[in-house]
Amino acid sequence: MCGIVGYVGYRKAYPIIISGLKRLEYRGYDSAGVALYDGKIKIYKKKGKVSELEKLTKDKDTEGTIGMGHTRWATHGAPSDENSHPHVSNSGNFSIIHNGIIENYSTLKKELLGRGYTFNSATDTEVLVNFIEDIYENNEIDATEAVRIALNNVIGAYGIVVMCKAEPEKLIVARRSSPIAIGVGEGEFIIASDATPIVEHTKDVVYLNDNEIAVITKEGYKVLNLKNESQTPYIHTIEMELEALEKGGYDHFMLKEIFEQPRSIADSIRGRIDPENKKVWLGGLVDVRKELAQAKRFIFVACGTSWHAGLVGEYLFEEHIRIPVEVEYASEFRYRNPVIQEGDIVIAISQSGETADTLAAINLAKERGALVLGICNVVGSSISRATHAGVYTHAGPEIGVASTKAFTAQVSVLTMMALFIADLKGKLTPKSRSIIPEMLQVPEKVRHIVNQSDKIKEIAATFKDSPNCLYLGRGSNFPVALEGALKLKEISYIHAEGYPAAEMKHGPIALIDENMPVIFIATKDESYEKIVSNIEEVAARKGRVVAIVTEGDTAVRNIAEFVIEIPEIDPSLMPLLSVIPLQILSYHIAVMRNCNVDQPRNLAKSVTVE
Ligand code: F6R
Repeated sequence: MCGIVGYVGYRKAYPIIISGLKRLEYRGYDSAGVALYDGKIKIYKKKGKVSELEKLTKDKDTEGTIGMGHTRWATHGAPSDENSHPHVSNSGNFSIIHNGIIENYSTLKKELLGRGYTFNSATDTEVLVNFIEDIYENNEIDATEAVRIALNNVIGAYGIVVMCKAEPEKLIVARRSSPIAIGVGEGEFIIASDATPIVEHTKDVVYLNDNEIAVITKEGYKVLNLKNESQTPYIHTIEMELEALEKGGYDHFMLKEIFEQPRSIADSIRGRIDPENKKVWLGGLVDVRKELAQAKRFIFVACGTSWHAGLVGEYLFEEHIRIPVEVEYASEFRYRNPVIQEGDIVIAISQSGETADTLAAINLAKERGALVLGICNVVGSSISRATHAGVYTHAGPEIGVASTKAFTAQVSVLTMMALFIADLKGKLTPKSRSIIPEMLQVPEKVRHIVNQSDKIKEIAATFKDSPNCLYLGRGSNFPVALEGALKLKEISYIHAEGYPAAEMKHGPIALIDENMPVIFIATKDESYEKIVSNIEEVAARKGRVVAIVTEGDTAVRNIAEFVIEIPEIDPSLMPLLSVIPLQILSYHIAVMRNCNVDQPRNLAKSVTVE
């Protein structure tokens, strides 16, 4: 999604903005631009990567200690130089960069056209900047007031930064449903759409709330709401380290993040498990213990990989708490008039904490009276603030667009939540309790699997040119199959589907021939014998079987073309292990196909629009 970086201070703004935009590249984008003030406002923008923008500005004047930069992910209007941000108002007095969507832009545009305004782009953003100008021109007010009045009249989502030629020493920043963080340094401020461009300059950050405007000069800043009431900002100290945002010797962030999983899982469970007394302690849920003990049903809302984690959570909650669970795509839940009853608890799962559909699902669930909990990775994110209580995953920044370590951290948290709530309800069986100390073995077992990367690479070489791939699993390995298929399709552009293995004979078996790779997750659990039969069925039709099996397995080895062995563990912890070879396989296939692994085409890291 789009990215924002702004700078006000004593240093040259351009290099700070460019390096900030590069930090935001992981979010996915198709064009980039900057505006700089140094006596006059200079604007440079270009379709393509930030490096294209750098080429454009190579011999240009990039002086100035105030500026703003943007990476655009097209919504209204195709990727092009004209549609790139910043956009400038007709008189040239206002420039703007914008994340989000102005939903009533066509009505506003019609009015502005009627008043003689002209437009150079197809964007909603250019409408907004002219709307601000129109208000400014027709009232004796300053730029901040014009922005405030305009924002009171727009419908939609925005994170914006505005520069005004007539008031050039300030940046005017605002948000609604699209995050804005302000890094507070010594005599300087760095504004960004997430904290990653800020950490190398300062750890002190103010997150704007919805419907807030900040006016920032190098002397200081003030925050107002849309009613023009002064707000008291809260300065958070961010814990993110710069190294976490760098590749650290790996070829890609995705590979680094796959290899980081022993640590990210350990960080997610650290301090939350008491192996001796077989207890789980989740501080973030302490205030809602009573509601959890009385819960009658859980509804998970999430998108993409986080939704797959929710599906694993369904198995975990039903197994350990013996309580009904529903797993909903947030985008469907929000528009489906869902039935929420007394005793329902909604759990939103999100790595970024900014996914628009998940946020909307949370708001709907709250309106209907549900207690809403969050499982988020990004501290201070919109979802973590919108939920009543929750648990952070502590996976650390995930930069690769394809989610890997966030998934295993989410599943780790869901496992602990299931055990914690089962205990609160007095339903924790000795068998479930025995999983608590076993969780501590997960990081080492994951390390053992990532060390097989080279072997998995050989399998990847065999299948790199396949146009299709099928992933099959049973029980909680079924969502792992879905996740494996998603990983492959999003980074290698190979068509892949995940299915419950037993469903194969109800349709997908028609696809099996000697060219079809079929990845089975066939680890030892109560449905093992059944999945061995499913493997036989595929092998009988000459499908090319790759099987993830438990160490020491012999039955599958005799049928499959390739096996990847993973350590033995309690079946309810198995998704934490069985997903790892699938991540590695997708990674190697994508690299062999020369795909942009960290920034796959058309994808955005945090999807802040519907
Ligand atoms: C897939 C992927 C996406 C996200 C989805 C939800 O690798 O990254 O499917 O999982 O967009 O994002 P979050 O978890 O940030 O809400």
